Amino acid sequence: MLKKFNQLWHPQMLDLSFAPFTTTIGGHQLQIMRADDDHLIDLLNLESEVYSGSTPWSSFSFKRELRKHRNSLYLVAYEGPSLAGFVGARYNIGEGHITNIAVKPRLQNCGIGAFLLNLMIDRARLNDCCQVTLEVRVDNRRAQRLYRRIGFVPNFVRKDYYVTDHVDALDMVLKLDQKKKEAAD
Ligand SMILES: CC(C)(COP(=O)(O)OP(=O)(O)OC[C@H]1O[C@@H](n2cnc3c(N)ncnc32)[C@H](O)[C@@H]1OP(=O)(O)O)[C@@H](O)C(=O)NCCC(=O)NCCS
Repeated sequence: MLKKFNQLWHPQMLDLSFAPFTTTIGGHQLQIMRADDDHLIDLLNLESEVYSGSTPWSSFSFKRELRKHRNSLYLVAYEGPSLAGFVGARYNIGEGHITNIAVKPRLQNCGIGAFLLNLMIDRARLNDCCQVTLEVRVDNRRAQRLYRRIGFVPNFVRKDYYVTDHVDALDMVLKLDQKKKEAAD
C-alpha cells in the first residue's frame, strides 16, 4: 500500500497526539508509541524482513512521513528492544488513509496487525472522518483478508500502481458510522 499518497492535504487542527502505552496481544507484551527518526533503522529492517529483502519505502519516504506531525501518525509496537510491527496513516478533512503496515513474520497471525489498524481507525473517528481508505496489491491476499475482516470493502482498482513491478492496487474503503460516533459523544 505504499506509495504516493501525495494528494493535497489541508493543514488543519487534527488531534494526532499520542500517549505511549503498554498492552498484551496474543501473549506478547508490546509497547506502543509514536515513531520518530530514532526508529528509522528498525522500520527499514522490519520492512526488509517482511518484503524478502526489499524496502518499498525508502529511508527518505519514512523520514518524510515521520516528520509530518500535522496530518500523519506513525506508530511502532516494540516487544522489548525488538520492533514487532508498525502502522502509518494520514488524515484530512473527512478521511483517513492507511499508508503502511507491517508485522514481524514470527509475530504475525496473533492479532497485532488488526490491533494497530484499529488504533488508526479509532483516530479517524476521533477526527470526524467518515471513511478510511488504503491501497493493497491485488496479489496480497493475506493483507486483504485482514482488511475485509475489519470491514474494508473493495472500492476500485488502480491499474499499474506499483512502479517496480507494475502490479495493480486494490483501493479499499471502510465507511465509518457517524451516527454511532454522535451517539457516543
Ligand atoms: C498484513 C499484515 C500486516 C497482517 O498482520 P498480522 O499481525 O498477521 O494480522 P492479524 O494477526 O491481526 O491477522 C492475521 C490473521 O491472524 C488471525 N489471528 C489473529 N489473532 C489470532 C489468534 N489469537 N489465533 C489465531 N489466529 C489469529 C486473524 O484472524 C487473521 O486471519 P485471516 O488471515 O484469516 O484474516 C502482515 O501479514 C504483514 O506484515 N504482511 C507483510 C506486509 C504487508 O503485506 N503489509 C500490507 C501492505 S498493504
